Amino acid sequence: MTTRILTGITTTGTPHLGNYAGAIRPAIVASRDPQADSFYFLADYHALIKCDDPARIQRSRLEIAATWLACGLDADKATFYRQSDIPEIPELTWLLTCVSAKGLLNRAHAYKASVDKNVEAGEDPDAGVTMGLYSYPVLMAADILMFNAHKVPVGRDQIQHVEMARDIGQRFNHLFGNGKELFTLPEVVIEEDVATLPGLDGRKMSKSYDNTIPLFGSAKQLKDAVARIVTDSRAPGEPKDPDNSHLFTLYQAFSTHEQQAAFRAELLGGLAWGEAKQRLFELLDNELGEARERYHALITRPADLEDILLAGAAKARRIATPFLGELRESVGLRSFREQVQVASEGKKKVAKAARFVSFREDDGFRFRLLDAAGEQLLLSIAFADGKAAGQVTKRLQADELDLHAELNAFSVRLDGEAVAYSPEFSTDAERDAAMQRLREALAPQE
Ligand code: TRP
Repeated sequence: MTTRILTGITTTGTPHLGNYAGAIRPAIVASRDPQADSFYFLADYHALIKCDDPARIQRSRLEIAATWLACGLDADKATFYRQSDIPEIPELTWLLTCVSAKGLLNRAHAYKASVDKNVEAGEDPDAGVTMGLYSYPVLMAADILMFNAHKVPVGRDQIQHVEMARDIGQRFNHLFGNGKELFTLPEVVIEEDVATLPGLDGRKMSKSYDNTIPLFGSAKQLKDAVARIVTDSRAPGEPKDPDNSHLFTLYQAFSTHEQQAAFRAELLGGLAWGEAKQRLFELLDNELGEARERYHALITRPADLEDILLAGAAKARRIATPFLGELRESVGLRSFREQVQVASEGKKKVAKAARFVSFREDDGFRFRLLDAAGEQLLLSIAFADGKAAGQVTKRLQADELDLHAELNAFSVRLDGEAVAYSPEFSTDAERDAAMQRLREALAPQE
């Protein structure tokens, strides 16, 4: 069994060395595991919540896409796409919004922080709070639930959001699943041993502290940034303390144990800080040089990036489109055409209907017949197109039913060919009862 791993990257900035060590590098390593089915996407709808500068949104999407590919993400193995290329996501967001308790969202940290800040400043509590910010966790739940992800690797600040996705998914399952788990409930994954890099000043590397080292700037920009790393004032020849030097911490994140041991010895032996910076620069340049070239090649071919991302979106939608169809069905958004109404024992009153649900899969178009309680009565073979599937559903309602008991199931035939199968049953009696129920469900209306 493969594990589906899904995570989103909000596209508001340019990736820096801290993002690389803390998120990009471990995610790409994880995606190479043969047991992993990885979904990585650019959370550009989320970016709109935080940023109203179109040029910056566009630039960031391009840079982040190029960064992941340059760092070695295999877009043929993983599913790599832009959130905004999947129209099923906003549609699912609405279905989920309708079952999300307002009280749950009132407790979201990001929203609460804005409210607290406003209250402290004596402003209206909701000043400057958009519905986007408020509903952020519902959109994120849709990202996760759309693909039935098992594991969601995120930073600590996102744990609450994944828990909310579970809550919302569970509520939807309860309301509309008819005992079936429509949504897989996701588990959060916090990578404990992933490097959190210090920035130039020793605090956590973060854009908001303006202490980052660029990932794919030129070699000169990298060198200049390394030169600005704050060190203590020990002169050349004086022993340096590696364990109290964030320059050494940065070195550790990219080196082998032997390299670390050698560098430690040099620092203890009095290596000048200028020399130490040169060592770190060389190490980083070595680690990033090739990827930097790939990055710049990609950035100059945005049309190719577009193609890669659109192919990723098509791959993702092969899952999202039929699944959303099923979810629409489950809440009662169903085609009138495919509805079979069953007259109840001679009375005029129309009984709760059995219904056909058609959907598309990799191998073609299929339909299910569900009884009034949502229980599956039949699953069809794959048809070449929706029209062929539709014709079969019509004939099943009009013609005499031709049912054949198979091992522990039964088939429905048209012109001697099996066109649909029942689920499997554990006893013949159950199978025969199901055949009877099917006959009743498809009996012509009075
Ligand atoms: N909110 C996440 C962040 O800012 C990004 C994100 C959006 C995400 N949708 C997601 C992460 C779904 C994991 C799963 O980091």
